Amino acid sequence: MPQTADYHRFRSAIAGERLPCAIVDLDAFDANLAVCVELARRGEKSLRLASKSVRAPALLRRAIDRAGGVALGLMCFTVAEAVWLATEEGFDDLLVAYPTMQGADLDAFAQASADGRTLSLVVDSEDHLEALARAGREHGTVCRAVVELDVSYRPGIGVHVGARRSPLRDAEAVLRLCRRANVLDGVEVIGLMAYEAHIAGLTDKNPFTPARNPIARALKGVAGPRAAKLRAGVVEHLRAGGIDLEVVNGGGTGSLEAAAAEPALTEVTAGSALLAPHLFDYYRGLSLRPAAAFACQVVRSSDPGYLTCHGGGWIASGESGADRSPRPWLPAGLELVKTEGCGEVQTPLTTSRCKTELAPGDPVFFRHSKAGELAEHVNELLLVQGDRIVDRARTYRGHGQAFL
Ligand SMILES: Cc1ncc(COP(=O)(O)O)c(C=O)c1O
Repeated sequence: MPQTADYHRFRSAIAGERLPCAIVDLDAFDANLAVCVELARRGEKSLRLASKSVRAPALLRRAIDRAGGVALGLMCFTVAEAVWLATEEGFDDLLVAYPTMQGADLDAFAQASADGRTLSLVVDSEDHLEALARAGREHGTVCRAVVELDVSYRPGIGVHVGARRSPLRDAEAVLRLCRRANVLDGVEVIGLMAYEAHIAGLTDKNPFTPARNPIARALKGVAGPRAAKLRAGVVEHLRAGGIDLEVVNGGGTGSLEAAAAEPALTEVTAGSALLAPHLFDYYRGLSLRPAAAFACQVVRSSDPGYLTCHGGGWIASGESGADRSPRPWLPAGLELVKTEGCGEVQTPLTTSRCKTELAPGDPVFFRHSKAGELAEHVNELLLVQGDRIVDRARTYRGHGQAFL
């Protein structure tokens, strides 16, 4: 039983650690990285690591160092994060994938750019562009902008399937914004980002919402190729309009294979794949190894067949539902109590299907639903190899940083 062996080796590894604690299984992490690198390499793309899905600089560094030159840059979730990673942690080529209008962000971004850091910031409107240009001029530099194209599925009659991100939906709209940038001092458009969130974020073998799975598959079959066609068409239209892009970004863990095969993209993004939280078990065609977990101690038993853990309620963001809750993982067979779920202070579990004897004081390992959010609950990730902790990676929180 490999799961029993995993329970015992993780349990040995964390013996003596204060619970709750979070672990990363380095062999699984490296194997997941290798999957991403291979897909990117096959499609002749570089890999941009989504830092928000890891939130521990030492692990991001490990991934870049082990990607054989395929992973070059990071996709960040705030300017403050990107500037910190560049100036304090030595990372380069940081794309901030979400716009900002805060003066402090724009100043920090422009100053870091003036200091020679390679940063870029997503924009989708003249307001974004003008604010960035102003900061660039004030700091005597030219800020790098990446225009975001919305590739949601919009078949007409008011239907919108996808994340509500950019209002730019066709080649002309993107070209217009690029031309506007051309006449502004202090900013230049260096790339296009077109993230197919409605494909990458859509589980299609989800045991919590089985009725939706066939619909998700059908939708992916139609919307995936449409998004690819739109991206290719926009790149072509820009080229014809005299705009050549250094970066054309798309993809995410949930859509990596298809995105990596698209000729129009220069790079693909992935982050969650490295830690493989349980939400990514619910995608067909994705084969990743669980690489992260958190351990809570069993503190009591209220009734025969029940154990209660201290803590456990590390719920993930997004459309709320059962798949956003942590899942008890090891030892195998433990189940959540539906009426209580994973709680702020306690999580009861049923033990009738669990073959491992557990007593108060023993750890139970849970998998988080999403990747980087795990790191917001702990100061460090314990890096495990075999049955030992071989290193510790401070999280953003452990570095005293809270970005969003
Ligand atoms: C712009 C963008 N690209 C890619 C991703 C995919 O990240 P991950 O691979 O961690 O799922 C995200 C996730 O939210 C994103 O916002």
